[in-house]
Amino acid sequence: MSKIQWTAIVLAGGKGTRMKSPLPKVLHPVAGRPMIQSVIEAVREGGVDEVRVVIGYGDHLVRPVVETVGGLCFQQAEQKGTADAVKSAEVESLDNFVLIINGDHPLITADDIRKMIKAYENESADLCVVSAKVKRPGNFGRIVRHKGEIAAIVEAKDASAQTLAINEVNTGLYLMKAEILQKYLGQIGSSNSKGEFYLTDLVSLCKENNHPVGVIQVPPRMSFGVNTQLELSQATRLTFKRKARELMEEGVVIVDPSNTYIEPSVHVGKSSVIYPGSYLRGSTKIGSFSVIEANSYVVDSKIGDSTQIRVGSHLEKAHVQTKCSVGPYARLRPDTLLENEVHVGNFVELKKTTMRQGAKAGHLTYLGDADIGARTNIGCGTITCNYAPDRKKYKTKVGADVFVGSDTQFVAPVEIGDGALIGSGSTITKNVPERALAVARGRQFTKENYVAASAKEEKSSENLQQENRS
Ligand code: UD1
Ligand code: CA
Repeated sequence: MSKIQWTAIVLAGGKGTRMKSPLPKVLHPVAGRPMIQSVIEAVREGGVDEVRVVIGYGDHLVRPVVETVGGLCFQQAEQKGTADAVKSAEVESLDNFVLIINGDHPLITADDIRKMIKAYENESADLCVVSAKVKRPGNFGRIVRHKGEIAAIVEAKDASAQTLAINEVNTGLYLMKAEILQKYLGQIGSSNSKGEFYLTDLVSLCKENNHPVGVIQVPPRMSFGVNTQLELSQATRLTFKRKARELMEEGVVIVDPSNTYIEPSVHVGKSSVIYPGSYLRGSTKIGSFSVIEANSYVVDSKIGDSTQIRVGSHLEKAHVQTKCSVGPYARLRPDTLLENEVHVGNFVELKKTTMRQGAKAGHLTYLGDADIGARTNIGCGTITCNYAPDRKKYKTKVGADVFVGSDTQFVAPVEIGDGALIGSGSTITKNVPERALAVARGRQFTKENYVAASAKEEKSSENLQQENRS
């Protein structure tokens, strides 16, 4: 294994009281991803070799998320402040360089991390604090400078009115030599208004001991941390906006980016068009020249080229190939496969169903556990009765070039041969061979003059009453 150059320590032990939620703060999702996941992914992609995450509140919930994305968990027994949190990450075993970041900064990108590491390497300082100049410094720690050089970070709660007026703030990001932590973390005390061990005290300790301390200034955006539900929604909004911009730069047409919700993990090919209200999630991949009409919800699905997903459709773990048309108001549930040139119309629900090339189900249909052959036409109102009283699911197999009349029920398990014809309104319970006609419904009987003609209606009904009495 190559030597570790950079280790990130991500602080995620706090409860996040101001979220007013039982869920640990860092698990709140921003555009579909728990905040802590975004932070871990950003630091890893940004060139950090090892990610140590300090967990505490709700650790049994936070740990699995952290470990799934390759972070190492370190337990902080009690939330005694940011310095104590860092100490929990076993600093004695660190080598080379360390980047410290808060777990509630979901807008930081891999590119930001890369730039910061580069900036640190140019600074030749033992410790660098990352600062930003902001309009409303609020609760942030203030960067106090002496003759232009950083002298200390002062927390808002401990600051004088004069210090509070400073608008250069601590973003909560630091880059340093590992030995700084190993030497000075133990010397940090808790004599401040919160009685906590403040990591920010490292600055004054380094200065006292003549270590060069630098400041890396970044845009205000990078100071954005999530502490409230409002900030969570703002982070989400910004993430969607950023994704939409990125896609538009690659040639995707987004009709109204401020009303389009595309998670960062989604791929969309060139010249596809996304209409407002669409929500594209998870591992969804969309090809080129496809259209996603308004208010469609697509999660973990694959959509090929030149396909149209029309208004209000809901797709989950579905695979739609090229030149298909789906909806309006269609629902494709997990394990649906539509091969090329399939048409699925309004109010059609499919589950665990394959429709082979050129097959059609135009309206009001439910197909579950079914395999529909190429070019087969499924008439309006057709359903598979796939769920039996034994609580098991059974399969319906319909061959190629079958014509299924409207309002047919397939009572599974059942197989229909290629080229067969099913009369409309049939309840099909037995297999149908190739090219056969099957009709399974009550025969029509017709009684002539059964109903009285309207002119004689009253009279004849009187007659009828008399007849009944006699
Ligand atoms: C901290 C900084 C402040 C900076 C701000 C940027 C300190 C003392 N202050 O303040 O200068 O402007 O971040 O956002 O460091 N955590 C733990 N264990 C603890 C305490 C905190 O894991 O015992 C974690 C929290 O989950 C959070 C992070 O550390 O992710 C920061 O803690 P928080 O209490 O939010 O610090 P701030 O008051 O925001
Ligand atoms: Ca914070």
